[in-house]
Amino acid sequence: APTVAVIVVAAGSGTRLGHAEPKAFVLLHMRPLLDHALDSIFGMNESVQVVVVVPGDRVADAHALAARAAARNGAPASAGPGPAAASVTPDPAGTITIVAGGRTRQESVDHGLSALLPSIEVVLVHDAARALTPAALCDQVVAAVRATGHGIIPGLPVVDTIKRVAASGAILGTVDRSELSAVQTPQGFPRAMLEAARTWAAANGRFEALTDDAALVADAGHPVTVIAGHPLAFKITTPEDLERADLLLHAAAA
Ligand code: CTP
Ligand code: MG
Repeated sequence: APTVAVIVVAAGSGTRLGHAEPKAFVLLHMRPLLDHALDSIFGMNESVQVVVVVPGDRVADAHALAARAAARNGAPASAGPGPAAASVTPDPAGTITIVAGGRTRQESVDHGLSALLPSIEVVLVHDAARALTPAALCDQVVAAVRATGHGIIPGLPVVDTIKRVAASGAILGTVDRSELSAVQTPQGFPRAMLEAARTWAAANGRFEALTDDAALVADAGHPVTVIAGHPLAFKITTPEDLERADLLLHAAAA
């Protein structure tokens, strides 16, 4: 049984991208963003439980999509179509699970955590919107969690000069860029650490303030370390980001 799970959160609506369909189902080179994202996961050396969190009315779609992605990547799992209404529908092999998401990313992560197999010791949480993330980055996060026992998040140095600006537009100061890191996903944690941090956050009313998983874990007093991220792990948020992903895939195919 796998000891590593990747929770792929794909239940957002993609307001800023501005398409009719939810962002994870928007096409990039004729394939949904989620399909690209699953290539990163099925391409890992580690054999993992994959938990995909999608909008409630997309659970059946996601089953079919995940089964195709697994087959394309030679993964052994089979994900049969489950009842669309069920929130948790494990496939027979138990390694691909499709879960309905929540109103916020945090709720979606929670729904994903509820589907973990008992054998899981390390959990990665990954944005489907980071559709071009290299599989190697996912394996590196797993290796670093195992080596350190810490929470591990990929990050890149910030290249722009960053100003603190008042509502009026007045510059308040320049932030020391050398201390900054633009963080990405997958974010990896020992399972027990992530679950304890979430329990702590819930008990202390911290969910509202803390948007990413690493912030929750650090807030609960656990060590979190940044490792080198990858430029291809950028998040597709705006139409310009989708255009950039399209151009990168064209360049890779040429
Ligand atoms: N996400 C999720 N459940 C939510 C909100 C977000 O699973 N209720 C996921 C998204 O599907 C995405 C990741 O969290 O893969 C990062 O969120 P973001 O890029 O903000 O995606 P959206 O919330 O869909 O986009 P927007 O904020 O523009 O509406
Ligand atoms: Mg969002």
